[in-house]
Amino acid sequence: MNAAPDGVVQRADLEPDALRAALAAREPAAATAAIRIVRAPGRVNLIGEHTDYNLGLVLPAAIDLEVRLALVATDDRRVEIELLDSGEREGFDLDEIPAAADRWIDYPAGVAWALSEAGLPVRGFRAVLGSTLPMASGLSSSAAMELASAWALLDPPELEAHGIDRMRLAQLSQRAENAHVGVSSGLMDQFASSLGRAGSAMLLDCRSLEYREVRLPLDDHALVVCDSGSPRRLGSSEYNARRAQCERAVAVIAREEPAVRSLRDVDLAMLDRFADGLDAETRRRCEHVIRENERVLAAVDHLEVGDVDAVARLFAESHASLRDLYEVSSDELDALVEIATSIPGTAARMTGAGFGGCTVNLVPRAELARFEDTILREYRARSGLEARVLVVEAAGGAGPMA
Ligand code: GLA
Repeated sequence: MNAAPDGVVQRADLEPDALRAALAAREPAAATAAIRIVRAPGRVNLIGEHTDYNLGLVLPAAIDLEVRLALVATDDRRVEIELLDSGEREGFDLDEIPAAADRWIDYPAGVAWALSEAGLPVRGFRAVLGSTLPMASGLSSSAAMELASAWALLDPPELEAHGIDRMRLAQLSQRAENAHVGVSSGLMDQFASSLGRAGSAMLLDCRSLEYREVRLPLDDHALVVCDSGSPRRLGSSEYNARRAQCERAVAVIAREEPAVRSLRDVDLAMLDRFADGLDAETRRRCEHVIRENERVLAAVDHLEVGDVDAVARLFAESHASLRDLYEVSSDELDALVEIATSIPGTAARMTGAGFGGCTVNLVPRAELARFEDTILREYRARSGLEARVLVVEAAGGAGPMA
């Protein structure tokens, strides 16, 4: 296989026929007709960062970089998956799901655990797994792995019989990540991977779980992800620390305002009133979250009328707030944003948890070549690292492939 260092295979190797042939070669007894293919995309968040676990608003889009599994169901209650890029093979028994051990198999195993715990009938299978989504670079490869696993573990007739919906699959995948893998992430990534729609970003209200499609103005602009290639230093401990700060703030406010359950119920005036009860750092964190929710709504309005210049101003505010108030950016992400915004008409900000990872950009199509060239050259000069510029499409959510 054409392997890249981060677990990525070429698109051609993920075509359904190529995947079927790869599985048939490993499982000669499997009838070709019995082979199913399931897919689940990664995501990029347009705006609404570190708001999901504060029950706020997010605006992610699923992207056309994804995880695919070719599988044949078995009756032996055992799951075995082979990675196409490395040939590495791992498995587990459905009746004895192993504890997480910082391995990729933790995600399928966690989902099997969460689905079983919810009383859904899961089935064993043999599979090959390939991905065009770079692993561990902040594009939610773990959520994609979870959603693809959910579709693989549940037979289509079972899905119909139990009336399971895509939001429920997203929530169970989040539960797998929180309770089995041990990362306290919010719902955004699994939501986007499960419910994304082609050509659109998805506005999710994490308190009511209401969501709707927001068409992206992609006639004149391209959706571009820049991967900083810098390791995600301190990622999960700092993530959990931010979350804990927000929860402590809510606890302080709720002592006098019992209706307050999350930062979603707090506005800037209320935050001011509690200024004395909160340390300055915690106040900054809360201010980011409250203002970021407002920016999401404003961005939706501007996107819907195609006003990318106004979106660019909101992206700039969001990035500055994540850098200065929430303190989750990095020198590399700041450099990528500064270089990107030197190209006229471009909107850019860090996306995802931060501490490394990627930026999201809306780039005028006429400037794409210049954008890529400038990013690669100037980023190398400033950071000594190689960036990766990925022009992506907003894609549909996880599910079976014909
Ligand atoms: C990670 C988490 C999400 C969300 C973002 C920050 O991607 O998995 O739930 O909190 O960080 O917006």
